[in-house]
Amino acid sequence: MWSLRRCYTRLSESGGMGYVYKIVGKILAVAFMAGILAGCGTMEKEEEKTSIRIGVSLYRGDDTFINNIRSELENCAKEYEQRHGVKVALDIQDAKGSQNVQNNQVERFISLGYDVMCINPVDRTAASAMIDKAMTAQIPVVFFNRQPVEEDMNRWDQLYYVGAAARESAVLQGNIVVDEYRKDPKSLDRNGDGVVSYVLLEGESSHQDSLIRTEWSIQTLKDGGVPIEKITGGIANWERSQASALMEQWLDQYPDKIELVVCNNDDMALGAIDALERAGIDKIKLVGIDATTPGQEAVRTGKLLGTVSADKEQYAGAIFSIAAAKALGKPVSEELSLEEDKYYWSPQEIMISP
Ligand code: GAL
Repeated sequence: MWSLRRCYTRLSESGGMGYVYKIVGKILAVAFMAGILAGCGTMEKEEEKTSIRIGVSLYRGDDTFINNIRSELENCAKEYEQRHGVKVALDIQDAKGSQNVQNNQVERFISLGYDVMCINPVDRTAASAMIDKAMTAQIPVVFFNRQPVEEDMNRWDQLYYVGAAARESAVLQGNIVVDEYRKDPKSLDRNGDGVVSYVLLEGESSHQDSLIRTEWSIQTLKDGGVPIEKITGGIANWERSQASALMEQWLDQYPDKIELVVCNNDDMALGAIDALERAGIDKIKLVGIDATTPGQEAVRTGKLLGTVSADKEQYAGAIFSIAAAKALGKPVSEELSLEEDKYYWSPQEIMISP
């Protein structure tokens, strides 16, 4: 648009010439315009787009961490519009935990001719059908948070993944406890029997993060020299209410025994805190992962010993910048450095209570 407008300005400037010059000027102008119009198609292709359309499908809109990412994505879109003058239509849909619903959302994004899709898969092992559709429609996909299997990710060079590395989250989480134990063993081994007795709250069993976080968090405690003993553990599917119910049950079953609650995410830690508050207990230490808004608040008030923060601004920023680059037909490498040209791992850090 910019170059076309400049061309119009130059043509109108020829208005002050003498009669002959005016005629010649007009002929030249017509020829010039014809040239421009003939080349318009090419020019438009070469010019940058002024608007992009991105379809986003969330596995569950009521998941606290995903909700934080969603807000950051909305901020990114607003900022991008302001900074680059490119209009961004961000269509965010909630699959409400149903892969069928998500498949329909993907079909709709494709039928509307969106430039790119950002998908937080409901079932990460069932990404293949969505990939088929995207490949047929030639629409790039940025998956996030729930990592499709490698075989699926390798099917097309227009597939990307943004996430927080599970092992890194777990090692950082474990280190929060190791540091606390080294500083003051009695704050964890409250009954002084020489071992820290813990319970474990795990996320969805099919999620790549659950297993890896559990394994590496506990391994880090062992490597860090914390003498530990597992009382019990259970799956609470990332959910506060499920974690609260489990914790209530364990407090009944193992009164005065639990000294530490290791949680695969903050929401489950908050659920355990709910159960502890109902029971009037405030001495048990808990650690989470995510640094969600309520998680950070619990760390600030000392209810949660610590959490691991995947920088949500960078996390969402990476999803958005890959999507925008793809929508604008620009190479992604200019925007971000990706592992194997497709994976972006968001940086993480520890947050501990004051
Ligand atoms: C995890 C996160 C959980 C939950 C889950 C959803 O990475 O820690 O809180 O949001 O993703 O897939």
